[in-house]
Amino acid sequence: MQTESAHSQSTFDFATYLAEKRVLIERELDAYLISKEPKMLWESIRYSVLEGGKRLRAILCLTTGLAVIQEKLSTDEVVQTVLPCACAIEMIHAMSLIHDDLPALDNDDLRRGKPTNHKVYGEAIALLAGDALLMLACETLLTKTPKLISMDSIATVTNELCRATGAEGMVGGQVYDLEFTGRVEQLRTEGGIASDTSTLELIHRGKTGALIKFSAWSGAKLIGASDKELGQINKFSEVLGLAFQIADDLLDVTGDVKSLGKTPGKDQAANKVTWVTLFGEEETRSRLKHLEAEGLELLDNLDCASEPATALRRLLQYAIHRSN
Ligand code: IPE
Ligand code: IPE
Ligand code: MG
Ligand code: MG
Ligand code: MG
Repeated sequence: MQTESAHSQSTFDFATYLAEKRVLIERELDAYLISKEPKMLWESIRYSVLEGGKRLRAILCLTTGLAVIQEKLSTDEVVQTVLPCACAIEMIHAMSLIHDDLPALDNDDLRRGKPTNHKVYGEAIALLAGDALLMLACETLLTKTPKLISMDSIATVTNELCRATGAEGMVGGQVYDLEFTGRVEQLRTEGGIASDTSTLELIHRGKTGALIKFSAWSGAKLIGASDKELGQINKFSEVLGLAFQIADDLLDVTGDVKSLGKTPGKDQAANKVTWVTLFGEEETRSRLKHLEAEGLELLDNLDCASEPATALRRLLQYAIHRSN
């Protein structure tokens, strides 16, 4: 058990931590995604992966890698070991955003302050760029992870990435999201669901939670965390993933287009089942408050290095209190 010291809290500069990790991740992504033929496909891929984004999932992956207490690797070696996985996660995430914005799904025109991928490259290329990114992510994890990690371990992590992304994870969650779209009133009047959050959790844990859970788990797994540590990290990241999507639901109502970089008010307009459309703003804020307390408590019980423990706390708070 380790509660962070007041000292480490006060000396830890979270803004610098985020900025440094973002530079590292973006430099690596840029190197992995060198433009080739067909030009339009690679332009489309680079457009959605490289420009903008908080990089929260990739930073989470690096941070849980750094959190594992071990003697064999320096901080820099840990980062280099986990970086390909962190980049693979950003590729999957970018793919999910490209597809999520398509007219067949959320039909959005603005993402990260720019026109969505299909608005620039057309729907066909947007679909295909997403397909390519799925495979590029697996390729990156399998071929770029340093050889000091056993192929067995890399295969385990790659398998988990496939599960988190596919029908049992993100893709399944997106399907639940679509299935429940337009049914807010029905769910309210039918009762049951209004008092029972299981439908929302089914959607949120799938479409958003699965990749966030993988992000936290994979960094620690690659660095050799024990099953006990991985179990604790999973519990924490389930709270983080749920809170992250609930905060996104809230931002759709409270955010402005400039800071969000995407069009607000879309959930209400599309009659999406979100925390806010089902339970209202006040209840949503209260749920977030509870999740913040729960997540912080779980971190108190996590046996890990002091600075990464502080970074994980801040990441949870950032996920909940962010403005974009
Ligand atoms: C947006 O994710 C999609 C959701 C799962 C809510 P982010 O809010 O992490 O998007 P970027 O990467 O920072 O643009
Ligand atoms: C997106 O959820 C989840 C995935 C991309 C998998 P949202 O549809 O709420 O995300 P935004 O609001 O468009 O970023
Ligand atoms: Mg969506
Ligand atoms: Mg969307
Ligand atoms: Mg949203």
